[in-house]
Amino acid sequence: MSFSAAKRKRNQQLTNLKNRSVLLGVSGGVAAYKAVELVRRLKDKGASVTVMMTGAAQQFITPLSLQIASQNTVYTSLFQEPLTHISIPAAADILVVAPATANSIAKFANGIADDMLSTAFLAFRGPVVIAPSMNGKMYEHPVVQENLKKLLSLGIVQTGPDSGPLACGEEGTGRLAEVRDIVDTVVAALTPKDLIGQKIVVTAGPTREYLDPVRFISNRSSGKMGFSVAKAARNRGAEVVLISGPTALESPQGLTFRRVDTSDQMLSALRDETERGVSALIMAAAVADFRSVRPSKAKVGKNKIPLLTCTEDIVSCIAGGEKRPFIIGFAAETGKKLDRAREKMKRKKMDMIVFNDVTEKGSGFETDTNRVVIMDKKNGVMRTGLMSKDDVADAILDRYLKIKA
Ligand SMILES: Cc1cc2nc3c(=O)[nH]c(=O)nc-3n(C[C@H](O)[C@H](O)[C@H](O)COP(=O)(O)O)c2cc1C
Repeated sequence: MSFSAAKRKRNQQLTNLKNRSVLLGVSGGVAAYKAVELVRRLKDKGASVTVMMTGAAQQFITPLSLQIASQNTVYTSLFQEPLTHISIPAAADILVVAPATANSIAKFANGIADDMLSTAFLAFRGPVVIAPSMNGKMYEHPVVQENLKKLLSLGIVQTGPDSGPLACGEEGTGRLAEVRDIVDTVVAALTPKDLIGQKIVVTAGPTREYLDPVRFISNRSSGKMGFSVAKAARNRGAEVVLISGPTALESPQGLTFRRVDTSDQMLSALRDETERGVSALIMAAAVADFRSVRPSKAKVGKNKIPLLTCTEDIVSCIAGGEKRPFIIGFAAETGKKLDRAREKMKRKKMDMIVFNDVTEKGSGFETDTNRVVIMDKKNGVMRTGLMSKDDVADAILDRYLKIKA
């Protein structure tokens, strides 16, 4: 399949939200204002968004704000345009309710349909994501918990609430999930689960090799590529372990996250995971190449330049192990050195390698985009255009599934 055809197929497969229609229900809680940001982030991912607001929601935020953010009509009343409570849900791919109040949750759980949103909830067929948000005591109330339990048993996906300071001045569990996490949940809910039953270990970020307690050798890796791969694999139904060196990124939900510092720690975490059996290892981490021969326990003087040696070759260690997973490596090169990447794949006994030229604009370290060449040991070569790291992650997983089949 050509790359553009593969990309088209992926878009149809909803690995992001392009061409997807989101029906967003906003109910009347203090977090209603965050719906504006949520609409924007959903649209950034390519979704079209139609908003329905409860009467109480309109006390907190105007329909106009959401109309401007969504560039769409906002539905506030059952009688505004007759029968839209049926036609709008019928055209939506997913229903998201954020914030979901205790009252709206109770109505959904009990089939009460006395306004636009609760009626549309009953008319909708497809994935539903709810993001509850309320005072901590309200959230903990057994009635609210029973209602949520009932909704979850029907396959509705809940995201949040988070814990922390609440608008009422109390501390507790009741904060609306971060907008980023709600969007992540929506993408996951719409992604076909073609990696179910697979355990995928992803490494990400740089490692730090200490010269002394103050100084270390590292590199420019931001971890973004590895985090995108881990999230894409999770969205596609895999059991994911993300082993990451130090990065500024938030640990993603819905996967096992292991934070490491040095290459030794990364290797030991990987050995630990591969011992238990892994379908695929995706080595997106930029392991530091050098370490001090003898790291000092105390800060050394400027004049004592440490002697360096190479760090352990992590991929070769795992490839040579007894329980060898399918191994996908990365080659970050300066220039179009595809042969070097191919040689690296062979020498380290990888099954696939993802090459990228870090000197190219929009590619490599710290960017949100990448352009890669995916090579495999059967001499297959696939080139992507410049695209988001999330899309590159899906292209890698598509290729993995194809080659492993
Ligand atoms: C200032 C204020 C803040 C409120 N915040 C919340 C909230 O965060 N979560 C919630 O479940 N209810 C909250 N409520 C109560 C709801 O607005 C009330 O239960 C309302 O009936 C919800 O209607 P709806 O579900 O149709 O939007 C708040 C009420 C007021 C007056």
